[in-house]
Amino acid sequence: MSLEPKRASESSVEMTQIILPSHANGLNTIFGGQVAAWIDICAGVAAMRHARHVAVTASMDDLHFLAPAHVGEVLILRAHVNRAFGTSMEIGVRVDAENPLTGEQRHTATAYLTFVALDEDGHRTPVPPLLPETEAEKRRFQQAEQRRIWRLERRRIHLQTDDAD
Ligand SMILES: CC(C)(COP(=O)(O)OP(=O)(O)OC[C@H]1O[C@@H](n2cnc3c(N)ncnc32)[C@H](O)[C@@H]1OP(=O)(O)O)[C@@H](O)C(=O)NCCC(=O)NCCS
Repeated sequence: MSLEPKRASESSVEMTQIILPSHANGLNTIFGGQVAAWIDICAGVAAMRHARHVAVTASMDDLHFLAPAHVGEVLILRAHVNRAFGTSMEIGVRVDAENPLTGEQRHTATAYLTFVALDEDGHRTPVPPLLPETEAEKRRFQQAEQRRIWRLERRRIHLQTDDAD
């Protein structure tokens, strides 16, 4: 049975976090691991909204930290489903830091994640196709196909050469 396509706007997520001293390193800027955790949560909510199933992180790639974010700033994370495949989905997350006093925002990080939908028994389950509508969604949809090819090839090589023990 084929599933009805769903719009990206039905699952997109915007998440806001104030950066507290407990999130910071010795430079008073945020830990990369903390940003990665929030990115994972934000993307996971988008994946589950799209699939309407529990979804687990299969991979996180191209996580680039472009600029530091400081204690007292507001971090804004925006997640979109870029494309759905069989049981997996690519989610793009963009992170901006906002100075709450001026409203000025700057781009601090971007990542692509793949989530896999699971049924009640923990088995992989098909997800609805994505229906891209805007120009940006269509561009992300197209680029996601190539990224999937690269990522699965990197995974294949990684599994062949994994000697990190
Ligand atoms: C992710 C997981 C469900 C994939 O299961 P699997 O049996 O290895 O799956 P397969 O190789 O048959 O691939 C299943 C789908 O996931 C995709 N996939 C699997 N590994 C992937 C990876 N590393 N990156 C991107 N996509 C991946 C496949 O392309 C396939 O997608 P499709 O159905 O849309 O074509 C499984 O590896 C798992 O449970 N991992 C742990 C997840 C977890 O606990 N995450 C939390 C953080 S630790």
